[in-house]
Amino acid sequence: MNNSEPGFYNNKDLILDEIWALLTKGVTDRSEDFRLPVVVLNSHSGPDARIVVLRGAFQERNTLRFHTDIRSEKIEFIKNNNEIYFLFYNKERKIQVRAAGNATIHYKNKTTEEAWKKTQVISRKCYLASNAPGTRSEIPTSGIPEQYEGKNVPIEESEVGYENFSIIESKIHTFEWLYLASKGHRRAKIKLTDHGSEATWVTP
Ligand SMILES: Cc1cc2nc3c(=O)[nH]c(=O)nc-3n(C[C@H](O)[C@H](O)[C@H](O)COP(=O)(O)O)c2cc1C
Repeated sequence: MNNSEPGFYNNKDLILDEIWALLTKGVTDRSEDFRLPVVVLNSHSGPDARIVVLRGAFQERNTLRFHTDIRSEKIEFIKNNNEIYFLFYNKERKIQVRAAGNATIHYKNKTTEEAWKKTQVISRKCYLASNAPGTRSEIPTSGIPEQYEGKNVPIEESEVGYENFSIIESKIHTFEWLYLASKGHRRAKIKLTDHGSEATWVTP
């Protein structure tokens, strides 16, 4: 076997672990490309995409997690249609992953309580905006109350942000994996269930 050829090149049983390794790294490593996926939802008028920070990847539950403002438009979209798509690309490893699943909104429950405690003040600041994300403004605005603009927010004062904090957990049912290689690309589809997974090679 060619040394530069990764194990998964001709072994579909190794692909799933590679995907979860990149997702797990994305949660903790700021330099990992998988940290910033594109998330696609169904808006009232069609597909709607945005970047989020990957905050959780749980292989045992086939679940991905990100944080958002409960007042944001995504919440309405998810309530209306909980199908969700994630798109990841690691440039160095030349791996694209498309993940499809179903989203659940967590708000003021044990999951959000635990995550909020671990959320740094710098991230909590986004949840202090007086108006909902997407609110029209006559002037350029960050939405953050003036006294906090460009300043560190004391931790006690960041607590009110919890009112707007929510977590989107997505149960993934399908991964589409694409590996780019000069000698020939590889592509596979992986169906996930609570009992295991099934990988199929697909023509790239
Ligand atoms: C690098 C980066 C990271 C982001 N992370 C998040 C995030 O974790 N959660 C979030 O709700 N929005 C995040 N955003 C902002 C969204 O892309 C989007 O602009 C915002 O959520 C409003 O979108 P909406 O129309 O879905 O409400 C991020 C944007 C960038 C550029």
